[in-house]
Amino acid sequence: MSTMKISVQRPRLYIETYGCQMNIADSEVVAGILRQQGYDLTHELEKADLVLINTCSVRDNAEQRIWGRLDYFRAIKRKKRFLLVGVIGCMAERLGEELAAHEAVDIVAGPDSYRDLPLLLDRARSGAKGINVDLNDIETYSGINPERIDEKTISGFVSIMRGCNNFCTYCIVPYTRGRERSRDPQDIIHEMEHMAANGFYEITLLGQNVNSYSWKNGLQTIAFPQLLEMLAQEFPQLRLRFTTSHPKDISNDLLHVIARYPNVCKHIHLPVQSGSNIVLERMNRKYTREYYLERVAAIRSIIPDCSLTTDLFCGFCGETEEDFQQTLSLMEEVKFDAAYMFKYSERSGTYAAKKLRDDVPENIKIERLNRMIALQNKISKALNQVEIGKTFEVLVEGHSKKSKNDVVGRTSQNKVVVFPDKGFSSGQLVLVKIIKATSATLIGEATV
Ligand code: SAH
Ligand code: SF4
Ligand code: F3S
Repeated sequence: MSTMKISVQRPRLYIETYGCQMNIADSEVVAGILRQQGYDLTHELEKADLVLINTCSVRDNAEQRIWGRLDYFRAIKRKKRFLLVGVIGCMAERLGEELAAHEAVDIVAGPDSYRDLPLLLDRARSGAKGINVDLNDIETYSGINPERIDEKTISGFVSIMRGCNNFCTYCIVPYTRGRERSRDPQDIIHEMEHMAANGFYEITLLGQNVNSYSWKNGLQTIAFPQLLEMLAQEFPQLRLRFTTSHPKDISNDLLHVIARYPNVCKHIHLPVQSGSNIVLERMNRKYTREYYLERVAAIRSIIPDCSLTTDLFCGFCGETEEDFQQTLSLMEEVKFDAAYMFKYSERSGTYAAKKLRDDVPENIKIERLNRMIALQNKISKALNQVEIGKTFEVLVEGHSKKSKNDVVGRTSQNKVVVFPDKGFSSGQLVLVKIIKATSATLIGEATV
């Protein structure tokens, strides 16, 4: 009788993540769920048995990129017939069946259906398509141990809330992510303890609107300032960051907590979107230019060394040259350290798509975006020049991509600093004196 040796290999998961940091955190939740199903992560596509693409719908170009990726996977699947491909995240939620109709796609799972992935996989293995895009008002993935995907990083993400209730008229997120819900503080602490014990030195707390975090504990309500204070005390060895803050909820209470704790980074990302009151109202942002400027003044008086970044977009429905000038003048007035800048992209299903006219011609959108970017580059560069000669505490992240002789890290203000390696290790805090600056990077020398 002959014997046959059968080696049983655990199946491998390859996961690609697009979109915002919340998707990075979600991919880790998904990897954690599938680990329990026997899947090991791989960073090599050729070795994968299952590919998951975690997608973003915020602008049309984000979705176009995914359709391109799916065509690529269709070609791969013709050679690798056993390969399963799933689309997860916001685009899965928005397009559901339309995505499932693509030849490459076996599974479609929205942001609240990841616990269902094992079942969807079973269905896919039996040759059917597995789809679940149900939203759910309570899912926070409590009890799941996220699996870290980028093993080298010392800086990680923890979701503290999910969803969004703000319904800015241009935005798809409330439809793809569902209603706002906060996570149990004990669950958050538990996850952070695990990360602190596993090589993380910096954690960014995530939510579409972190400062509307709210957890009811009997009669007591824990809001974001209390949560942040609790975490700052509990984890003095970790640098804490958070994003995104909505201007309507950036309270003085929160600013005082940021000022009080040295381990809470002195950086606030505060998307303003536009400098024109008419446009802000049309966007349903719930604040005015004057209110925003007052909050910026409060930040600067309570936390003098705080950096400020923002999101802006031009070409929203009805935006005139005068409105746009208001955005430029707000940029000049605030002097953001950095900004993410976009041109309006209509998303079907939103209020704007239903009720407003996308009437700014594409060439004007592009021209305004270029003017906005040029102005911000000038401002960022000038602000970085001012840092020359100053010394910052930099958390080393690793070697610079451009040169093995340099390391790269960030200041508390979230500015990237490159400086010569003197045997530093990732996770080390180093005092660095700035000697040169561009619009995006500071170049320095360790003072030791
Ligand atoms: N929750 C965050 C950001 C969510 S999306 C906030 O409230 O600001 C990230 C950024 O994408 C937004 O701040 C906005 O600047 C941009 N954005 C959202 N929808 C967009 C659209 N339809 N077209 C262009 N930019 C958009
Ligand atoms: Fe979108 Fe507005 Fe919610 Fe941000 S706050 S995710 S821009 S709806
Ligand atoms: Fe994109 Fe969804 Fe994030 S639409 S920006 S991945 S919440």
